[in-house]
Amino acid sequence: MVNSYTPLRFTIFISFSLAAASSFKLSASHSPSSLPKATADDLLSVLGPPSAASTLNPIVSREIRSCLKFLVPFKPDKSGPESGRCSLRTGLCSGKIDAVERRSKFEDDNSLVWWPPEPILELARLAVDSGGDPGAIQRTLDPEMIPVPGVQGSKCQLTRTPYGRHFIAEEVNSYIEFLFRLIESRGPSIGFNVSLTRYDLFHGHLFLASESGRLGILFHAKEYPAYDKKVFPYNMGYCQRGSDVKYDDSMNLRNILWLAPLPSKSTPGWLAPGVLVVLDAHPDGIIYRDLIPNYVKFVRTIYEDDLGTTAVDVNYLNVGAQEPDYQLFIC
Ligand SMILES: *[C@@H]1O[C@H](CO)[C@@H](O)[C@H](O)[C@H]1NC(C)=O
Repeated sequence: MVNSYTPLRFTIFISFSLAAASSFKLSASHSPSSLPKATADDLLSVLGPPSAASTLNPIVSREIRSCLKFLVPFKPDKSGPESGRCSLRTGLCSGKIDAVERRSKFEDDNSLVWWPPEPILELARLAVDSGGDPGAIQRTLDPEMIPVPGVQGSKCQLTRTPYGRHFIAEEVNSYIEFLFRLIESRGPSIGFNVSLTRYDLFHGHLFLASESGRLGILFHAKEYPAYDKKVFPYNMGYCQRGSDVKYDDSMNLRNILWLAPLPSKSTPGWLAPGVLVVLDAHPDGIIYRDLIPNYVKFVRTIYEDDLGTTAVDVNYLNVGAQEPDYQLFIC
């Protein structure tokens, strides 16, 4: 019986073993023999500075690109943070723009992804300077432990641990909340309806990329699809009860990647701006074929462990009884 923290991939794996996988077939697609299998590192290279992207096999690179649905325009050549940055706290943007010209919220939000507030940039640099050490990130958390309120009774625990923490730097917390909200508000622009609920989008895995140390968060939406005899015959325990998430083509879009700007190792400068992108795992694409392990193809889960070392999980939960009350728990 599955009754506490069970990420989708594990639950499916268990159901899979128990049910002897009778209800669906694993994809039997093969890569063309000339084409090397794409890796998570290749994906990160495509989203890195042009110099990194250019080292890839051009066909692999093109196929990866064809599976990327950007929530914020991708600007690999965008100049450094000095040329325009916004503050979440004050809502003010600095930079070249004329003092009297107000940019739209759309542009402000783009800027916040390309060049986040200083505390996020510091974290991004710390990740790389530490050589990708998750402890370096964990040490920036406030030690205070905040109990995660039970969601609909205490039998469903959505988070890895029953308590969470915050980052000491308040702006890091607000920035993570900003990312959750931005994914929700921009999803529809690429045909992805996503809501901040305990069945859909409430968590992400903050990681340090294996090769570069680049800081990122892999968000997983559509976490608890509703049980359905025909399309989703999987019992995932208490957390799934009452789910209104349909198992349909939107599952293809459930992996959402944020990358912090990439700092230069040798100078105080920056090599690439931040990125926010949905990784489209439709079954004809290279992401589905090469980046999703066979036993989770059905639920399209990309593993954070393939992208790097996980430092913490970020959870954004509505803990309000009547009025919505969203709170962040870093676990
Ligand atoms: C998203 O939701 C809106 C409003 O409910 C609906 O009109 C639209 O068809 C949905 N889009 C997709 C891709 O499901």
